[in-house]
Amino acid sequence: MTDSEYVLIRRRVHELLGIDLNAYKSTQMRRRLDAYLLRVRAKSWPEYFRLLEQSAEERQRFKDYLTINVTSFFRDADKFATLRERILPQLLDESRTLQIWSAGCSDGAEPYSLAMLVRSIAPNQRLQIWATDIDRSALSRAIAGGPYPEQSVENVPRMLRAQFLVPCEGGYRVKPELQRLIRFQEHNLLRDPVRDRFDLIVCRNVIIYFTEEAKAAVFQLFARSLRPGGFLFIGATETIPLQQARELGLEPVQLTFYRRVEPSATTVRPSHQARLAT
Ligand SMILES: C[S@@+](CC[C@H](N)C(=O)[O-])C[C@H]1O[C@@H](n2cnc3c(N)ncnc32)[C@H](O)[C@@H]1O
Repeated sequence: MTDSEYVLIRRRVHELLGIDLNAYKSTQMRRRLDAYLLRVRAKSWPEYFRLLEQSAEERQRFKDYLTINVTSFFRDADKFATLRERILPQLLDESRTLQIWSAGCSDGAEPYSLAMLVRSIAPNQRLQIWATDIDRSALSRAIAGGPYPEQSVENVPRMLRAQFLVPCEGGYRVKPELQRLIRFQEHNLLRDPVRDRFDLIVCRNVIIYFTEEAKAAVFQLFARSLRPGGFLFIGATETIPLQQARELGLEPVQLTFYRRVEPSATTVRPSHQARLAT
């Protein structure tokens, strides 16, 4: 694809799907777009965009493809072990109602895993999970509580599986008692408002697709949205450069976990979000 074609595609994708591709790494994105054009057997981008204009179904399919929503329960199980053994015990001591945000939650496997984990170690803990994603069709499975195929739930510890999952056609469903703990919402991390004072923000395997500038804006948003002492849990390949983390008041705790330190110890610069707003 030529540079001028990519400019055109970005403009049309923004108009038709509301996604700002400027915030996503261009080499990866261009490769994915090329592959998609072959897959739908369109002769050119203008031809494909004519189809896209006419078909709401195709718009949803294309959006699903662009946003890459691979996920599973207890993905990177060792990180969930750290959460259970090191992070949650501190948060449970400090919070009356534990407030968690799962950002880029895809079909809900991640926030449901978090809910199971908290319930298993603190059955009476007051808990609210806000789970958001840009992709409405991934969210619809999350809201319905399934069905989740066997490979999605294979990392769920046996006890938790028995306690919180019910076999059904097509795999498993989560029990309503878990569903009640989570509020799912369509939300664009790069544009939409976020409340503050979360105890834990979990955002994994989302920003790997973002440009450096978009990543920096999102890290800043997370730092602002955590209460002092709250934790950020990011993906295994998504470390925050040390200097940037310090400027934001995020102290590395272990690989992929950061703790928000008291505001007095840090200077948070004004948000870049406005610049990235679409
Ligand atoms: C690979 S999945 C990660 C799911 C889960 N966090 C995990 O690690 O298993 C990436 C998710 O990020 C979502 N996403 C991509 N761009 C986003 C944006 N700008 N705002 C919110 N969600 C976004 C996608 O729709 C997708 O569901």
